[in-house]
Amino acid sequence: MSLIRGRFQKKADKLVAEYTASITFDRRLYPHDIAGSIAHAKMLVKQGIISDKEAETIINGLTTIRQEIEQGEFEFKPELEDIHMNIEARLIEKVGEVGGKLHTARSRNDQVAVDLRLFAKEAISDTLAKLREFQQALISLAEANKEVIIPGYTHLQSAQPVLLAHHLLAYFEMLQRDVGRFNDCLKRTDVMPLGSGALAGVAYNIDREFLAKELGFSLISQNSIDAVSDRDFVLEYEAAASICMMHLSRLAEEIILWSSAEFNFIELDEAYATGSSIMPQKKNPDVAELARGKAGRVYGKLMALLTTMKALPLSYNKDMQEDKEGFFDTVDTLLSTLGVFSGMVKTLRVKVENTRRAVEQGYILATDLADYLVKKGEAFRTAHDIVARLVRYAMERDKTFSELSLAEYKNFSPLFTEDVYSITVESSVAARDNIGGTAPERVAEALAHAKDIVEGDKGILDA
Ligand code: ARG
Repeated sequence: MSLIRGRFQKKADKLVAEYTASITFDRRLYPHDIAGSIAHAKMLVKQGIISDKEAETIINGLTTIRQEIEQGEFEFKPELEDIHMNIEARLIEKVGEVGGKLHTARSRNDQVAVDLRLFAKEAISDTLAKLREFQQALISLAEANKEVIIPGYTHLQSAQPVLLAHHLLAYFEMLQRDVGRFNDCLKRTDVMPLGSGALAGVAYNIDREFLAKELGFSLISQNSIDAVSDRDFVLEYEAAASICMMHLSRLAEEIILWSSAEFNFIELDEAYATGSSIMPQKKNPDVAELARGKAGRVYGKLMALLTTMKALPLSYNKDMQEDKEGFFDTVDTLLSTLGVFSGMVKTLRVKVENTRRAVEQGYILATDLADYLVKKGEAFRTAHDIVARLVRYAMERDKTFSELSLAEYKNFSPLFTEDVYSITVESSVAARDNIGGTAPERVAEALAHAKDIVEGDKGILDA
């Protein structure tokens, strides 16, 4: 195809054409490519670089090409390498030589940069919407189980009682930081690179402000060399996506543990679980397992692009074509994971009888016993020591704290009196009444705050 063979007489080797083509994946950029081209044509006519008539022909041509693609009537040709050449060639085929004026004052290098940035801006806004939806799901599960107390863990060892809502709101916080990261990434994505040309800028009197306005960009790139060689915005999205997937994988792990027979804290809705082909009793948390697994996939794309970009000389290099598949896959993986998690979390049932039993087992109130002695004047370290011995004593006799007699308590410290029996899981959580603590009132406040953020959608922009 003469359009890209330049000074060559030979056609590209078939394998070379296949190897270098990106059309199998970058066709997805067609709406952005066409939007960019229409804005460019409008700018060219505004600046008197092409005529009104020519611009009209080009814009009408591009509009019908968009329809052709949307109706599945467009023939994507691998020999035309990428989406930019495919659309341009079709335009020339449809409207004749005037179509060839579209590429005046432009290069595929600034063209692909603008396409990808438009795509990324959409991806970020879809991601933010899905993050909100998921935060909403966490809030509704927390609200539906406001009173439920579960064992809180450190080292996966039962540690202190906490409200389930408090535990769920920990994920809300993580997601709120994700919202912040994607918003931040948006600031550096929202920069218009057109006008950078191949690398040095273009030798025409163009209007970059007009282009930015037309395409909805807030800023204009300030260095043409940087503009065509920068993929930081893709890396930032992938980095934010990696952290977000890490968060989701932690929740996934807890859902997997909690739905096991050993924990038995939750039951997944049947629509969000799968059966086993051999063991009829199984109800597998496949969604959570896959999300846990897909975190690795998303990290991989980030590592791949970091490695691709490493040590690339300025400015554009073909290596950079490798940015797209990983980016698209990351966006798709994150959006689908967030979507399916919202449904899974919203519909799961908490088995309150079991969480209650779990929280009453063991010596989860040991810290509270130590705090009790501290309030009666004992030094914390001594109190810790007394309770440690008490735990050992009770364990050896297979007794819970409440099964010990007051005389037994008194053998460990004279400070123990009858009111030691009023230490309960409820008193334990209620005592943790500081900002960020698990006391029911604090958690109710945190829940109300979370709802404000999600409903007012303040946080989307302010996070
Ligand atoms: N398909 C190319 C990419 O994805 C578009 C830019 C090509 N530029 C060039 N000078 N070959 O990066």
